[in-house]
Amino acid sequence: MRNARIAGTGRYLPDKVVTNHDLAKIMDTSDEWIRERTGIQERRFFAQGKDTTANMGTRAARMALENAGLQPKDIDFIIFATLSPDYNFPGSGVLVQEELGIREVGALDIRTQCTGFVYGLSIADQFIKTGMYNTVLVIGSEIHSSGLDLTTRGRAVSVLFGDGAGAAVLQATEDKERGILSTHLHSEGKYAEDLAVVDPGSSRDIPRVNVEMIEKGSVFPVMNGNHVFKHAVQRFPEVILESLHQNGYEPKDLDMLIPHQANLRISQFVQKTLGLSDEQVFNNIMRYGNTTAASIPIAMSEAWEQGKIKEGDLVCLAAFGSGFTWASALIRW
Ligand SMILES: CC(C)(COP(=O)(O)OP(=O)(O)OC[C@H]1O[C@@H](n2cnc3c(N)ncnc32)[C@H](O)[C@@H]1OP(=O)(O)O)[C@@H](O)C(=O)NCCC(=O)NCCS
Repeated sequence: MRNARIAGTGRYLPDKVVTNHDLAKIMDTSDEWIRERTGIQERRFFAQGKDTTANMGTRAARMALENAGLQPKDIDFIIFATLSPDYNFPGSGVLVQEELGIREVGALDIRTQCTGFVYGLSIADQFIKTGMYNTVLVIGSEIHSSGLDLTTRGRAVSVLFGDGAGAAVLQATEDKERGILSTHLHSEGKYAEDLAVVDPGSSRDIPRVNVEMIEKGSVFPVMNGNHVFKHAVQRFPEVILESLHQNGYEPKDLDMLIPHQANLRISQFVQKTLGLSDEQVFNNIMRYGNTTAASIPIAMSEAWEQGKIKEGDLVCLAAFGSGFTWASALIRW
């Protein structure tokens, strides 16, 4: 069986920088509170009328294709991970197919939130391993800022999130030592409402949208922050070790861990638990906040550009988030 390797990565970040000080002007918060608890200093917000979840994904995809030395016409399949799609339906993947102007390949949207990119990578890996496709585009793209409660009522959640997109092009390789070595996917639905947007559009409500939802704020994300934190610091190390041990490795063998950028404190906790050095863990949450499905491909793209991951390196991607879901991928780059 052949392997799937990452042939190129790309990213797109909207121009508008929103600092913690900017947020403190519109809600009761402070730079100190946000930095101390999350490590975030600033994030990006999209430009209405210019950026969409799909077209940000397309821009990231173009960069990934260029880095891979490929053309849009080379893509056999599109996987699009987002919790903030352009429409309730159809998914954003079909819009990318149109924007890239490619033939009528399949386009699959997946919704596992912060783990969306790793889940997407796993799906792409299976399609390539079985020989069904040679080249698969995996995108994570999010516009959070239009869906956050940017008032004091929503501050515990809204200071965490930012907008952005990242992408990777996966290609088949006959080199068994290279590419995605394994992926590991998990979920625990009993915690579904610990990090969720319940309304509008919930199929159990008649009508699906009403004024009460807006008044009580159930159209905004809710999070049981302490609970999420406790589970994250347990599940991240678990799923990273699962991927390492399945392939006969230990944390010391890792060249780079790219964790989903949820919170710098979570990443530091994971680093300490696994005994990793600063050089072995990539963090950029300081500049972008949590961009959910986009955070790992944005980080991969920056790490590659900065020379922090190189050909032959052992790289682990790991994520935890809403669902709860958690996942990892071990890659020989
Ligand atoms: C969200 C998180 C930073 C909150 O930190 P915390 O230390 O647990 O803070 P708490 O929620 O206990 O709130 C402490 C106080 O700060 C207040 N507060 C909440 N958000 C605030 C903000 N943005 N600015 C200022 N004060 C804030 C709270 O109202 C509370 O005030 P009180 O003590 O008077 O009631 C933390 O729980 C966390 O990081 N959780 C994981 C989140 C995450 O990673 N989610 C994404 C997963 S993919």
